[in-house]
Amino acid sequence: ESRMRACSVGGDAAGLQGQQLWARGKRTVAVLGGAGGIGQPLSLLLKLNPLVSDLRLYDVAGTPGVACDLSHVNTQATVEGYAGDAELEKTLKGCDLIIIPAGVPRKPGMTRDDLFNINAGIVKSLMIGIAKHAPKALVNIISNPVNSTVPIAAEVLKKAGVFDPRRLFGVTTLDVMRARTFYAARMKTPVKDVDLPVIGGHAGITILPLLSQVKPKKNMTEKDIDALTKRIQDGGTEVVQAKAGKGSATLSMAFAGALFAEACIKGLEGEKNVVECAYVKSDVVKGIPFFSSKVQLGPNGIEKILGLGELSAYEQKALEAMKKELLNSITKGIDFVKK
Ligand code: NAD
Ligand code: LMR
Repeated sequence: ESRMRACSVGGDAAGLQGQQLWARGKRTVAVLGGAGGIGQPLSLLLKLNPLVSDLRLYDVAGTPGVACDLSHVNTQATVEGYAGDAELEKTLKGCDLIIIPAGVPRKPGMTRDDLFNINAGIVKSLMIGIAKHAPKALVNIISNPVNSTVPIAAEVLKKAGVFDPRRLFGVTTLDVMRARTFYAARMKTPVKDVDLPVIGGHAGITILPLLSQVKPKKNMTEKDIDALTKRIQDGGTEVVQAKAGKGSATLSMAFAGALFAEACIKGLEGEKNVVECAYVKSDVVKGIPFFSSKVQLGPNGIEKILGLGELSAYEQKALEAMKKELLNSITKGIDFVKK
């Protein structure tokens, strides 16, 4: 089952009946930034996931309370809350998967790159901890600007001599979710049937939905293609503006983060044909060392990076147009760690 669905996260939560469902999990997952806007609902969704046995919430403060609250939910995963630098080691040791939504969100008028000055340092310091205490864990980076924070993470791991490109992911699942939702609404087709890859990066024009590959394929005019592409590229800004100073997407991101985490765990469990889009170390596009495309997940993280498939002339042009910005963001991240 390669398509993203309302997986057990949604399905089991709706049918929270007995305990039988909750006997399978054996995976330890940490959420760094676990007391935040994304961290809290993401942790709730992970607590509902039967594949997770140990859930650890880490933040600068507030996690003991959030974890205590969550621990009363009658599903099998145990929940621990950790706060502050001194507890990072305990948080990370033995983790199979570490999810990072730590950092500040945008306010109206800001780009994701405007978050670099604060978030780059946060991601760097958390990654130094991961390099030391959990170098084999899969790492899902949500903190923006993703186009730079993933290269930062890679560089920290490299410096420590533990970089395994198969285990590091920038989470772009929210772009895929938006693409599906907006396409279904505009083209009047049931959202559950839509499959639509999104490639590139996670900011503005670097987000590129491949509408030429959408399934089911409806008759789209050029206007439809242009309007959908732009709305998907600006989906984050749409939420930032609607929240009017109170942050960015949290609930939709929590769901997207939970779906991507589940896909990673299914890969670890040896499930076949788990395929998701993610921003990873890649040579799919010449000269761009990090790029989002479909990747196949397995017991060691990325099994295979899948190609882009055939692009339309519109998509080819958009791919050319994003290259400079994406490469600049990547270089900025790498330089931040190198200097
Ligand atoms: P938030 O401010 O509500 O929560 C962030 C949390 O991170 C806070 O609880 C804060 O205390 C914590 N934090 C800060 N520094 C930390 C550190 N050193 N260690 C541990 N925790 C730390 O913000 P939010 O709305 O949850 O967004 C978090 C990040 O996710 C932002 O950078 C935002 O831009 C990004 N985001 C990414 C996507 C995506 O698609 N990848 C989507 C939405 C948001
Ligand atoms: C999103 O796409 O919602 C996130 O990257 C948050 C943002 O700043 O837009």
